[in-house]
Amino acid sequence: MKMLATVADFSAALDAERCAGRTVGLVPTMGALHDGHGSLVERAAAECDVVAVTVFVNPLQFGAGEDLDAYPRTLDADVKLAEQAGATLVFAPTVAEMYRDGTATTVSVASGMTAVLEGASRPGHFDGVATVVAKLFAMTGRSRAYFGEKDFQQLAVVRRMARDLSFPVEVVGCPTVRADDGLALSSRNAYLSDEERAAAPVLHRALRAGAEVVLAGGRDAAAVRAAMEAVLATESLVDPDYAVVVDAATLATPAPLDGDLRLLVAARLPSARLIDNLGVTVADGMHRKDD
Ligand code: PAJ
Repeated sequence: MKMLATVADFSAALDAERCAGRTVGLVPTMGALHDGHGSLVERAAAECDVVAVTVFVNPLQFGAGEDLDAYPRTLDADVKLAEQAGATLVFAPTVAEMYRDGTATTVSVASGMTAVLEGASRPGHFDGVATVVAKLFAMTGRSRAYFGEKDFQQLAVVRRMARDLSFPVEVVGCPTVRADDGLALSSRNAYLSDEERAAAPVLHRALRAGAEVVLAGGRDAAAVRAAMEAVLATESLVDPDYAVVVDAATLATPAPLDGDLRLLVAARLPSARLIDNLGVTVADGMHRKDD
């Protein structure tokens, strides 16, 4: 298992692997790795010869007053988890190394996908994500890059960015890993008190209630939203931010609901803001639920 800290070493290592005929898988992370990240590494290891995990808490994607300083940093444990899941190398640069010349260039995906949902609560967030991921794709070169559906809007934004900028990178979406009670694994779950942790699975229950409406034949977005909001309202510690149903590719709400749909929720708890989502497909009058 190789540890690399400079952009030059990282790019050179992956060039050498490709020259030797090996395929490259990339798993970008901000560290504080858990089994959700582990599942991405395992998938990459199953599909690629070499797996590069990047660990970088990207200041560009944190807003003022967000948890940049408090974000958990656990590099030693991250390296162990990455290795056990099948990683070949870990790239963990400093901020000075990643943004050696500052940030005069920003990658910005159109507002239809980035000013809504997470982007509405976190202005500039997706510019920060798109910029750092574009940099990582440029450093990595031809590869398959693995992202979690847990951050569904991020996955859609990254896919669009990679296509628009013609990166030789195939973006692969991977299912959300959950705790037994349905809570999606997240590095930010570490902030939750015991009481908050007990309340947090309500997000997943709300998504399931919304999906049930679609599965029962409901095609009205307002009815799906209402079903999710009713479940979220049962937990006093949980302050809902949004509960929506959108087209999985465009993130716009179709009327009537049709095709590949995604139900998304976000809510504030006293110690953390949590997000989650669930997929439902409506096709030819038939419906099926995934995830
Ligand atoms: P981070 O939050 O560390 O997540 C890294 C990757 O792990 C993302 O693709 C995320 O969707 C995925 N992931 C997180 N929790 C998951 C879960 N429970 N199941 C499956 N996958 C999960 O997302 C970021 O970092 C950053 O924005 C980044 C893309 C690295 C850019 O800085």
